[in-house]
Amino acid sequence: MNEPAAVTGEEPVSATGDTLTVEDLSVHYGGVCAVRSIGFTVAPGQAVGIIGANGAGKTSTLKALMGLVPRSGGRISFGGTDLTRVKARDVVRHGIGYVPEGRHVFPGLTVEKNLLLGAYARSWRGEQTRDGLAEVYALFPVLAEMRGRLAGALSGGQQQMLAVGRALMARPRLMLLDEPSMGLSPKLVEDILGVLQRLRADGLSLLLVEQNAKLTFEATSDCLVMENGEVAMTGTSAELRDDVRVRRIYLGL
Ligand SMILES: Nc1ncnc2c1ncn2[C@@H]1O[C@H](COP(=O)(O)OP(=O)(O)O)[C@@H](O)[C@H]1O
Ligand SMILES: [Mg+2]
Repeated sequence: MNEPAAVTGEEPVSATGDTLTVEDLSVHYGGVCAVRSIGFTVAPGQAVGIIGANGAGKTSTLKALMGLVPRSGGRISFGGTDLTRVKARDVVRHGIGYVPEGRHVFPGLTVEKNLLLGAYARSWRGEQTRDGLAEVYALFPVLAEMRGRLAGALSGGQQQMLAVGRALMARPRLMLLDEPSMGLSPKLVEDILGVLQRLRADGLSLLLVEQNAKLTFEATSDCLVMENGEVAMTGTSAELRDDVRVRRIYLGL
C-alpha cells in the first residue's frame, strides 16, 4: 500500500517530452496526513485519473503539484524541471494548467475577461491572446455567444467550461482537473467527457481527479485509486473498471 505506484499503460510519445513524475509525495495539515508517499507518472499525451471518496486526498495532491499547499516530502518534476523549486504563481509558465475544484470563475467579470485572466498568467498579449480566445470559442461555442455576459450569470456547466477555457488560455501541455463533473447533471457530465476527449485528441496530457469513477474510466487510459491519502490500487482504466472491489465501492454495482 505504501509503495509509490508507477502508472505505465502507454508508451511516452517522446522520451524527452513533458513527463510529470511524482515520487514519494506527502502533504500534512498540522498533524493530519492528507497524502502519504504517493507516486505516479503522466507521460506526454497520456490521460491519468485519480479516483477516490471525499477526503481521500485528491485535491491535496493537485494543490501540492501546483505549489498551493506545502509538501512535507517528495519529488515532483515536469519535463525535467524540478517543480518543488517553482513558486505557485510560476507553475503555469511551465506548461501546467489547473482547473480547481468548484471552478472559481470570477462572477462579477465577463466571460471574456475571465478568459483573458488565463492569458495574463503567462503575460501574453495581442496575437497570442486573440488566437487563444479563438481556440477556446471554437471548443466552447456557448462561451463565444456569452462572451459579454457576467460569468456569474452562467449555468454550472457553462462555468465549468469557462474554468477549462481559462486554463487553456495559458496553453498548457498538461492539464490538472479537480472534479469537473461535480454538481453537473448526467447530460452535462457527458459534455465534460466530450471536452476531455477533445483535449486529449489535441495532444494535451491530463490528470483528472474525480469521485465519478465511471466518467474517469471513460476519459483516461490509466488510473490510481486513493484511499486515506494513499494509493490503494493502480492499473489501466479498463482493468480497474472490471475489478470486483472497484465495481462495488466506486461504481455501486
Ligand atoms: N486546509 C486543510 N486543513 C486541514 N485539513 C485539510 C485541509 N484540506 C483538506 N484537509 C483534510 O485532508 C484530507 C484530504 O482532503 P482532500 O485533499 O480535500 O480530499 P479529496 O479532494 O479527495 O476530497 C481530508 O481529511 C481533509 O479533511
Ligand atoms: Mg477534493
